[in-house]
Amino acid sequence: MQLKHVISTSQFDRPMLEKLFKLSDTMEKLHKSRKPSKLLAGKIMVTLFYEPSTRTRLSFETAMLKLGGQVISTENAAQFSSAIKGETLEDTIRIVSGYGDVVVMRHSQTGAAKIASGVSPVPFVNAGDGAGEHPTQALLDLYTIQKELGTLKGLTITLAGDLLYGRTAHSLIEFFSRLDGVTLNFVSPNKLRVPQEYLALLKKNSVSYTVTDDLDRTLGTSDVIYMTRVQKERFSSPEEYAKVKKYVINNAALKKMKKKSIIMHPLPRVTELAPEIDSDPRAAYFRQAQNGLYVRMALLKILLQ
Ligand code: NCD
Repeated sequence: MQLKHVISTSQFDRPMLEKLFKLSDTMEKLHKSRKPSKLLAGKIMVTLFYEPSTRTRLSFETAMLKLGGQVISTENAAQFSSAIKGETLEDTIRIVSGYGDVVVMRHSQTGAAKIASGVSPVPFVNAGDGAGEHPTQALLDLYTIQKELGTLKGLTITLAGDLLYGRTAHSLIEFFSRLDGVTLNFVSPNKLRVPQEYLALLKKNSVSYTVTDDLDRTLGTSDVIYMTRVQKERFSSPEEYAKVKKYVINNAALKKMKKKSIIMHPLPRVTELAPEIDSDPRAAYFRQAQNGLYVRMALLKILLQ
């Protein structure tokens, strides 16, 4: 698989995805065997996170360590890197890409990943760029859907919550726009509607979709309910954030859902998923997060070998 940088899901077609899924299955076995691996011995991954993260950074770092590689990391790059002294992103990337064999970066600005990859001689991975994309999350989401439901085809998928700023949703929509027989429901408050450019993309590809602010209406027909957090940090004030409608999946909502369906969430959850649903077999979000490790192990192998 020819892959230099990972910036957007648009770089991945079906055959690439299938290869990635197969390799992710192998990585799960390797992880569960608890056997040390030397696959990426001698390689160094740089993680540069300008925004908070738990799963993305730690699963990438674990993935590298599991494959015998090493990690250098700045988990609060906005304050603890030279960005605070006024260094440009390009200069920072030029320097760290001279140290490591792969750079994984999260940044608060949409488009930062593209700029950074442009000056990186080594593989560069977008771990979230503002309200832009979060391709590795989308890849692990797709892997989870395939694993849980056995297919990506012919599904009705509901994306709910913050569809304006939610970069995980954006990356997924890009991929779904190229998928046969999928029906998408976009559920959000008016102010956080999915950007027009994504709807235009779906229209162009004749993918059927609905736009609503009523989550209830979609529960009974959805194979996947993908919840997202309303991203407080993207609002200008706490008052603005407080005004926006929030959605919750609780036991009452579960009753309206299909028996064979799944609830996903990139996490962290705030109030979107009531803890009372955690024990329901349809609650797939913790399994989804665990899959992140396997998909990122697979991606690192592809990028570095
Ligand atoms: C998401 C993100 O950072 O975009 N989290 C993640 O990577 N799992 C979603 C969020 O922060 O709400």
